[in-house]
Amino acid sequence: MPLAAADSEFLRQLVRSRSGIVLGEDKGYLLESRLMPLAKAIGMAGLDALTVRLRAEPAGQLARQVVEAMTTNETFFFRDIHPFECLKKLVLPDLVAKRGTAKRLDLWCAAASTGQEPYTIAMTMREHFPQVAAWTTRFIATDIASEVLKRAKEGRYSQLEVNRGLPAPLLIKNFTKDGLDWKVKDELKRMIEFKELNLLETYPISGQLDIIFIRNVLIYFDVETKRAILGKCRKLLRPDGYLFLGGAETTLNIDDAFVRVEFDKGGCYRLKG
Ligand SMILES: C[S@@+](CC[C@H](N)C(=O)[O-])C[C@H]1O[C@@H](n2cnc3c(N)ncnc32)[C@H](O)[C@@H]1O
Repeated sequence: MPLAAADSEFLRQLVRSRSGIVLGEDKGYLLESRLMPLAKAIGMAGLDALTVRLRAEPAGQLARQVVEAMTTNETFFFRDIHPFECLKKLVLPDLVAKRGTAKRLDLWCAAASTGQEPYTIAMTMREHFPQVAAWTTRFIATDIASEVLKRAKEGRYSQLEVNRGLPAPLLIKNFTKDGLDWKVKDELKRMIEFKELNLLETYPISGQLDIIFIRNVLIYFDVETKRAILGKCRKLLRPDGYLFLGGAETTLNIDDAFVRVEFDKGGCYRLKG
């Protein structure tokens, strides 16, 4: 039975209010394809029954599962490559020089999905700035979705996943083969603390940060949500820190406290002044 318009509206509002993810009226097919497996898994015949339960318990575990099912978790190692070139050739040389006395770096990778992005950042640091291994580094990686975070923490990837963007020398150096999969070595895993964090809520991150990656997630939000999130990032970023967004994302006309730093085909953002 096709999804009723009122149920579709209810589900889209639920997802939006809890995660910020905006699903247009034309996304009924997406609701059906992502939520039918969940409905079946909990013994419900269809989305009408699921919606009845959600209306009764809009803030329960089921609502959480619905939101999680509606997240898009696409990611891969060295995604878009240019941000990581910018990190390696511009951002880390600058920060490593500036923080040489304090010997401390604070990083946050938000919307980290299954972990390929934070592991890419960690590999880039280890490979090109080995001296930082002796520093105090705090590297937090977060996501709203518990299932993807579980995978990120586990650090186990299939051959297909490591084939997507990970250069062979880095694979050999940082992973061990485990059956058909590859497992992130402990020394790399230990660099990152994975936690759940909803970008709509307050950020339980103490102190300030040198680098924030928040890529390919703002695209799912409306302008007001993007502005609120960028405002919170602005407060967390040290005055000389760096912000990385996805290729289709910008601070322009949303938060003009940021200025773009062009670097080759990539680039990032800094705070004005
Ligand atoms: C497309 S993935 C991007 C992964 C990675 N940053 C990259 O660029 O490859 C988007 C991620 O944002 C997460 N996400 C969506 N809404 C969120 C929210 N409100 N708070 C935190 N994470 C959210 C999703 O769970 C998903 O893992």
